[in-house]
Amino acid sequence: MSTANSKRKILVTSALPYANGSLHLGHLMEYIQTDIWYRFQKAQGNECYYVCADDAHGTPIMLKAQEQGIKPEEMVAKVREERIVDFADFFIEFDNYHSTHSDENQELASLIYNKLNDAGFIAKRSISQLFDPEKQMFLPDRFVKGTCPKCKADDQNGDNCDKCGATYTPTDLLNPKSVISGATPVLRDSEHYFFDLPKFEPMLKEWLHSGSIQTEMANKLAEWFEQGLQQWDISRDAPYFGFEIPNAPGKYFYVWLDAPIGYMASFKNLCDKQGINFDEFWSADSDAELYHFIGKDIIYFHSLFWPAMLEGANFRKPTNVFAHGFVTVNGEKMSKSRGTFIKARTYLDHLNPEYLRYYFASKLNSGITDLDLNLDDFGQKVNSDLIGKVVNIASRCAGFIKKRFDSKLSSNIDAPELLADFQNAKASIAQSFEQREFAKAVRDIMALADKANKYIDDKAPWVSAKDENLQQQTHDVCSMGIHLFRILMTYLKPVLPGMAKEVEAFLNTELTWHSIDDTLVDHDINKFKALMQRVDMEKVEKMVEDSKESLAAAAPAPTGPLADEPLADEIEFGDFAKVDLRIAKIIKAEHVEGAEKLLKFQLDIGGETRQIFSGIKAAYSPEDLEGKLTVVVANLKPRKMRFGMSEGMILAAGPGGKDLWILEPHEGAQPGMRVM
Ligand code: 2FM
Ligand code: ZN
Repeated sequence: MSTANSKRKILVTSALPYANGSLHLGHLMEYIQTDIWYRFQKAQGNECYYVCADDAHGTPIMLKAQEQGIKPEEMVAKVREERIVDFADFFIEFDNYHSTHSDENQELASLIYNKLNDAGFIAKRSISQLFDPEKQMFLPDRFVKGTCPKCKADDQNGDNCDKCGATYTPTDLLNPKSVISGATPVLRDSEHYFFDLPKFEPMLKEWLHSGSIQTEMANKLAEWFEQGLQQWDISRDAPYFGFEIPNAPGKYFYVWLDAPIGYMASFKNLCDKQGINFDEFWSADSDAELYHFIGKDIIYFHSLFWPAMLEGANFRKPTNVFAHGFVTVNGEKMSKSRGTFIKARTYLDHLNPEYLRYYFASKLNSGITDLDLNLDDFGQKVNSDLIGKVVNIASRCAGFIKKRFDSKLSSNIDAPELLADFQNAKASIAQSFEQREFAKAVRDIMALADKANKYIDDKAPWVSAKDENLQQQTHDVCSMGIHLFRILMTYLKPVLPGMAKEVEAFLNTELTWHSIDDTLVDHDINKFKALMQRVDMEKVEKMVEDSKESLAAAAPAPTGPLADEPLADEIEFGDFAKVDLRIAKIIKAEHVEGAEKLLKFQLDIGGETRQIFSGIKAAYSPEDLEGKLTVVVANLKPRKMRFGMSEGMILAAGPGGKDLWILEPHEGAQPGMRVM
């Protein structure tokens, strides 16, 4: 690290999001955290770059593209378009957003692999794996289901049992089935490439003790060292969406091999565009700093495999890896049925992105505990802090300055000690930002805002303004309020860049960290415009409603490995018993104008006709459905959708997309029958 006061060179990354789904608030917490830190570093005058990319490779992405009947490249491009706008709308300011499916990444992945291979860190051996004879592909663990070898529970994952907690390999499963085709897999041998991680154990131990690593991470790593490091399988057989391994036809790099190299590739792409010296940041003797912000679930990859790969290929290692916890909403895991699995775009349709930046900042620290987005608290905190405290200072003072003092601030400083308090807080607030203790920084800033409001309350310029003899005092007090407001907004600028920009227009000056000690005496300001609206809790509710709807309108989400959300919470038997499932006959099915995925149905559920909208258009033409039977949830509360009322839900089975089945009519099932 460079010495204090000199300009530091810093490269910052956030985890590369998989290119197979929309961004949601869980993702955003990490990007907001990184972006605040990055903006803070730039405000300190450091040379800091923030890069990211789509994590484009791997089996789930390949299969999802197949489901959609398009090439993975096309799917990745579509996802990219959507998320680039989402990021920008949340003020996430990457210097570069690239893709792991890029020339730079292929070159760097091959280079690193070749160096590791030349240095003797790659081993080859044949392993037996389950193979789907129908799909003609090897099955990753999560794509096999079967009966647990220990407790005999059915429908268990290929690597562990939900019921008894046993862990095993997919070949141990009884009665295994491919999740993709349903076929019974067969065992097949194939040669795999392994990275010799155990050789790096001494280096890793030393590296981990060289920096100020998070305590929780240190504990996790100690556990892994105790269990003993294993060689890491870095190859996958065709068909696979990824890069072919040099001199190994039909063998591809496992997605997690080239994903972190994507950090380098994105930076390389930036260097080529802007003439930055790549080696200054990545050579083994680099004195630049490198930080990865990640979720706690991917510590293993970033603090073991990644530094070992870098060391083995003679590149520098990260200065530190900053893990964070997960986001919960209202105290629970995000859930589509509760409407708390909120996509970035759904949020933006209703609420100001800076509310969320502020709320996350007010709760973020350097640890890895989960962060709860409590929606009531969110509204209250933003309204009370940002509107009630910060904006309030400016709105109470600006009007007088404009109307009575020709928009010019006074040449006097009314409360020099208070001003000094605000300026002296700079070092400690900077330290909190630097250490990722954003909650503390925000608390300290709000304590200053309280002081500023108290000062204005005590001086009551609205009273002195009425007295012709106290005009100078009114001018001095309101100007003082604006000075304090300027400092507060400078401190908040990494968190609220959009609002800070408007404040810069209002104050007619740039908010910079080094100008905190200056004061705007005799300075002309501009017209004050409302800087931020209060959080409207009705909009919060609407956002939650829409998050429920966007699920209903989508094709039924694939389950298991293809799902891009955590698995649903368990429900009690009593919850299940509440669901009224009935056989229904499809009387009429038709297209819905303007709907991408929906069909509109009239259904006979046994003497009663229901209208239901269902997202199964990808699987069926409406004319093929009339006369068929299906299962419906008959007691789902009717919901008003964009195209009309939906009075229940149609159930279908299958992996999703084009492969969805409903029942063929056959003897025995009759409309109205209950499904048990
Ligand atoms: O867990 C994930 O979402 C991965 N796509 C993160 C990759 S981070 C880096 F290593 F590329
Ligand atoms: Zn079991």
